[in-house]
Amino acid sequence: MAYFLVCVDVSADERGVFLLLLNNLEAIIMSAILEIGGVKATELANQFKTPLYVYDQNQIEDTLTTFVENFKSEAFPTKIIYASKAFQAVQMVNLVADYGLGIDVVSGGELFTTLKSKMPREGIYFHGNNKSREELDLAFKSWVSHIICDNIMELNVIDELSHQYQQKMNIMLRLNVGIEAHTHEYIITSHIDSKFGFAFESEECSQCLALLTDHPYLTFEGVHCHIGSQIFDLTAWYAAIDKLVSALKTFEQPLVLNIGGGFGIKYTDDDQPIELAESLRLLIRYVETALLEQDVTITALMIEPGRSIVGGAGSTLYTVGYQKQTPEKLYYFVDGGMSDNLRPSLYQAKYACDLANKLDAPKTEKVTVAGKCCESGDILITECLLPPAEEGDLLVTYTTGAYGHSMSNQYNKNLIPAVVFVKDGVAREVIRRQTLEDLLRYEMLD
Ligand code: LLP
Repeated sequence: MAYFLVCVDVSADERGVFLLLLNNLEAIIMSAILEIGGVKATELANQFKTPLYVYDQNQIEDTLTTFVENFKSEAFPTKIIYASKAFQAVQMVNLVADYGLGIDVVSGGELFTTLKSKMPREGIYFHGNNKSREELDLAFKSWVSHIICDNIMELNVIDELSHQYQQKMNIMLRLNVGIEAHTHEYIITSHIDSKFGFAFESEECSQCLALLTDHPYLTFEGVHCHIGSQIFDLTAWYAAIDKLVSALKTFEQPLVLNIGGGFGIKYTDDDQPIELAESLRLLIRYVETALLEQDVTITALMIEPGRSIVGGAGSTLYTVGYQKQTPEKLYYFVDGGMSDNLRPSLYQAKYACDLANKLDAPKTEKVTVAGKCCESGDILITECLLPPAEEGDLLVTYTTGAYGHSMSNQYNKNLIPAVVFVKDGVAREVIRRQTLEDLLRYEMLD
């Protein structure tokens, strides 16, 4: 937006008209509209209704390129596996497949969706602490070839299935390295009492390794850990790498080193993540050095980013409905809430926002943005500055691309919003909005 300083000599008579003109000009300037991927937010809202998840496809692709270009080494092959729990849709899986990434799935549902995409079977990595027999069976039937095994009971089931199908399967063991990344408690997954994985020194690990030794179908592929999410400080990762490399040193054959996901992103100005390309280069360098120092060879280094691939590329558009002034607060109510973004209620997660159709209007109101769910905790943004709003204005929350749609729910039978990818001025729906009829699809009406 360009501003011009205009100096004009006007007579007293002309002043009224001039001020009117200036006011109109101000109104035009102040109605700057947010554009995503070259399409105005107002057009997106008209075409697809709100609430609406909007992804800037070029931004996803730029991030994929950053990963591919910076996560590489002369010393070992590397593989990037997209943690699809962050956001999954067939078109999203197709996009990551185009960039040569693999995919991490954690349920029969994520696996089934992936099987409908063009992701090659050998690019699928099946995770989860309690994969059911049915889910593991689907993995064998659909020729998935990598399972990250979480416990000995699961490995026994995999063992049975591999004999039943007489089919090979690569197995990585999920190790709990007892290292916590400094982040919100609920998303720490590798503290020692975690429900995920087991310690390398544990009896359970020895049992798994014994079962895998000389197995006719199961191949021990390597070790995995995931130390947490929204990580800003690489030191926890370095400590985990040291532990895993020491574990790998005890094996004769070179194996895979998989160090999980967790790259932090910037939700608000309070977040100061290390630049992604730099983090990737530092991790590579650290692994290269650790391997040299401990004299260990690996077959590949893997990472499993989710949030960092899609988080920043996604925004959610809402329509502002009513407002409410209490003695302490001014509420703007929007047409979604904890049903499309659970993170503020679940983790007190913070987001930045704007009125998307009044980008340049002065932010004079201190506002609480609340959803429409029947729950006092349904607050999307506890406090922010926004311009005065009118019913029908568009409110955008930024950085909702990860764990927004994937954690959406039908509380109060709110409809799950559509997901739109926008690229170079063209918007395409990748998941359509639920309809009222969809709500009754599973009901026995008689
Ligand atoms: N690999 C494994 C084994 C994981 O458990 C996770 C995330 C990832 C990779 C991807 O982590 P990312 O790069 O996305 O941080 N619902 C929470 C996040 C839970 C993450 C669970 N595991 C949130 O909304 O913050």
